[in-house]
Amino acid sequence: IREDPKTVGDYIANYICRRINDFAPTPSRPFVLGLPTGSSPIPTYKALIAMIKEKKLSFQNVVTFNMDEYVGLPRDHSESYHTFMFREFFSHIDIPPSQVNILDGNAEDLIAECNNYEQRIKEFGGIELFLGGIGEDGHIAFNEPGSSLASRTRIKTLAYDTILANARFFNNDISAVPRMALTVGVATVLDAREVVVVVTGQRKALALSKAIEEGVNHLWTLSALQMHPWALIVADEDATAEL
Ligand code: GLP
Repeated sequence: IREDPKTVGDYIANYICRRINDFAPTPSRPFVLGLPTGSSPIPTYKALIAMIKEKKLSFQNVVTFNMDEYVGLPRDHSESYHTFMFREFFSHIDIPPSQVNILDGNAEDLIAECNNYEQRIKEFGGIELFLGGIGEDGHIAFNEPGSSLASRTRIKTLAYDTILANARFFNNDISAVPRMALTVGVATVLDAREVVVVVTGQRKALALSKAIEEGVNHLWTLSALQMHPWALIVADEDATAEL
């Protein structure tokens, strides 16, 4: 538990920096990092950008896999997760664009796109560290309430609560929010050797308490982390209000 979103971001950025530097990645043995979107990871991205600019860290031998992407939103739309990731992070760091993997929500064959994504992760030897955020309903990536805890990368219909929560990014126009997304599954996240989740703000307090203090439950998919041997949740004071 840290005081506020900024100190949470600094903590996670330091943690990731240490993990990557200890791993000492090379072109033939890159560090494979899973990444989220949303407002919660922005302070972490800011702190990582600063470290990379100060040459304390490099992403030259890091390969990234993003958690999710909307279906049907043009790739260059201001709210696509592709645009978000380049705007908030990738454009400011030294990662070669060929090492960035983001699901294509406009692929002709969406099922093949999801299967290929799982395959690509396998080819890189799996994800070393998956950084995640959560929705107010406890979803991790876009694994909405009711998702199978054994799920893999697939198409998911968004919950109405998520559409409402994300309308703020679409001029508060609910009808403009995509209805579907491609997302890694709960099992894809659990397969990572380590999972780090950022949870900030009082809006996430109920989800955090359900995920930590109740049983493993597909209605609060973050709770699946209870089964993971190496998972870390970094929360700010506000997010712990219900614990
Ligand atoms: C979306 C993303 C999630 C993210 C969530 C929280 O639903 N698919 O991966 O965790 O938003 O967003 P925020 O951090 O803005 O609350």
